[in-house]
Amino acid sequence: MNHDFESAPEVATAGQLVLMVSADNKRFIIRLTPGAEFHTHKGRMFHDDIIGQPLGRVVVTHRGDRFVALQATLFDLIMSVQRGGTIMYPKDIAYALLKLGAGPGARVIEAGTGSGGLTTALATYVRPTGRVYSYEVRDDMQVRARKNLERIGLDEWVEFRVRDIVDGFEETHVDAVFLDVREPEDYLAQAWAALRWGGTFGSLVPTTNQVSEVLAGMQAAGFMDIEVAEIILRLYKTVPARLRPMDRLTPHTGYLLFGRKAMPLAAVGAAADGEEEPGDGGDEGEAR
Ligand SMILES: C[S@@+](CC[C@H](N)C(=O)[O-])C[C@H]1O[C@@H](n2cnc3c(N)ncnc32)[C@H](O)[C@@H]1O
Repeated sequence: MNHDFESAPEVATAGQLVLMVSADNKRFIIRLTPGAEFHTHKGRMFHDDIIGQPLGRVVVTHRGDRFVALQATLFDLIMSVQRGGTIMYPKDIAYALLKLGAGPGARVIEAGTGSGGLTTALATYVRPTGRVYSYEVRDDMQVRARKNLERIGLDEWVEFRVRDIVDGFEETHVDAVFLDVREPEDYLAQAWAALRWGGTFGSLVPTTNQVSEVLAGMQAAGFMDIEVAEIILRLYKTVPARLRPMDRLTPHTGYLLFGRKAMPLAAVGAAADGEEEPGDGGDEGEAR
């Protein structure tokens, strides 16, 4: 299965994920399959008319409507997930990936899985040797998310777990934990226990009063290097002569919080109250 959508082959190949864009900007992701047909309300076309042809080429449906076949990017894949609720948006995901250090080999916990928007990005970046542990309390949500990941060939880097995270995480010494759940402040002790020393905690919440609650909880738990951020994205109409913001923008998605699991600076040289110090290598301690 071809899941390497980041490298651009000169011509479209069988198994490749391709974004089909119509003249009126309708967008569909298809996996090119020899002999298969692609149907929309604009008519049908054959995958074989795309396979072996350069990407960026126009393909015409049997009704005469035109589509351009493009390489599907991670942005396209995230926006195409079948949704059962709000997904995390690419602008927030992009910043979170950098803050969480979600690179090749990283072990990252996320909750809840939701529709798998963030999962898609995490799985992309932890490849080939890392792992995403994705927790979700609702079985039906995780079934949908798993299908989304399978559809784009990224499921092999994800361990899906149906569980209420109030019961904690199975993994320890992970590099990062990200919570996109209703009340993240209730699960800070569980996140702390799963993180390695120096690991990064992150969360997304929709309101400022929730920011205050998570922030107070993070400070009480002992997280340091804490940051609160809002990523503001303004899209513009692409009319050179009348360049101005789009009429309907998404005014708000959420606030991001990040922090690192570390010993308090005051405790340097004196392990506080018998707590395991970084590098001791045993089971991780309880939240402070
Ligand atoms: C906003 S959605 C997550 C969206 C996801 N980040 C995405 O990009 O698609 C929140 C999810 O958290 C799940 N959830 C809420 N509380 C939970 C808990 N205590 N344990 C596990 N999952 C939980 C919900 O069922 C829901 O599916």
